[in-house]
Amino acid sequence: MRSDGAPPSDPAPRSAVIPPAAAAASAGPPVPIVQFDRVTKTYDDGFTAIKDVSFTIEDLPNKGEFITILGPSGCGKSTILRLIAGLRPQFPPTGGAVLVGGRPVERPGADRGMVFQDYTAFENRTVEENVAFGLECRGMPRKARLERARDWIRRVGLDPVRDAGKYPFQLSGGMRQRVAIARSLILDPRIILMDEPFGALDPTTRMRMQDLLVELWRALQATVFFVTHSIEEAVYLGDRTFVISSAPGTILKEVKVPPPDRPAHVMQREPAFLEVVFSLRDMIERLEPSTRAGD
Ligand SMILES: Nc1ncnc2c1ncn2[C@@H]1O[C@H](COP(=O)(O)OP(=O)(O)O)[C@@H](O)[C@H]1O
Ligand SMILES: [Mg+2]
Repeated sequence: MRSDGAPPSDPAPRSAVIPPAAAAASAGPPVPIVQFDRVTKTYDDGFTAIKDVSFTIEDLPNKGEFITILGPSGCGKSTILRLIAGLRPQFPPTGGAVLVGGRPVERPGADRGMVFQDYTAFENRTVEENVAFGLECRGMPRKARLERARDWIRRVGLDPVRDAGKYPFQLSGGMRQRVAIARSLILDPRIILMDEPFGALDPTTRMRMQDLLVELWRALQATVFFVTHSIEEAVYLGDRTFVISSAPGTILKEVKVPPPDRPAHVMQREPAFLEVVFSLRDMIERLEPSTRAGD
């Protein structure tokens, strides 16, 4: 369920039922879905990974924004994602505030789903048991959760009959990443955090996964943060691309990029698309002569 802070239809007084952020939203401008206010993270060893990072992502109604994040290795991309997720040791920040839905992040939650580059799955569970895992944690009865899991197995392009009973070691990289996506999205997160999820896939599989992700994102209308080393991928998937500097990471540029309204293998060879990619690459080279985001 999306909670967009809309006011209740009945005129009953707003008391403890409505959390303060939602109450504020009904009175004034909508509450951003994610906000960083001068966020700094210095790790225990004294190393500052990100410094004074600020941005605001609105909860676009019936859409959700797709944010892609580009930057050299070690610039703090995973730190940013894991701060939103509430995962230690990146969380908590050592300075500034990370707000989700107007409130400071306190811990991980099902409203934020994460997909990593390494195919996270339980090796001793079948595909359907992996996909159903989050629902199992919520106490959903077995029959109902496996039914939902098979639906998600189909939605991510796997075969509910042939693939549901397989174990992760029997799957290709692309299939494993489909399972990881299904495992996360079955919980209907409002925010999807993806950390180089397609980085280990071959180019053809990668484009197929990009198309799948766009399709799922359109249906879920969630806000996506997607970290990648590929400028093409960032331009194709994103509504906006954030370019991060090398550590301590700061946002150097926010660029609006064309929406993915055609299949990846078509759009990514069009001159207009390549023009955007090249200009972004030039911009990154000018901003960071020594460390390039696409490397
Ligand atoms: N737990 C930690 N302790 C100390 N330094 C860390 C820790 N985690 C990450 N770092 C450092 O912080 C910087 C940013 O890390 P990270 O966010 O993982 O970068 P990216 O995802 O952009 O490659 C890196 O230089 C990394 O070595
Ligand atoms: Mg990383």
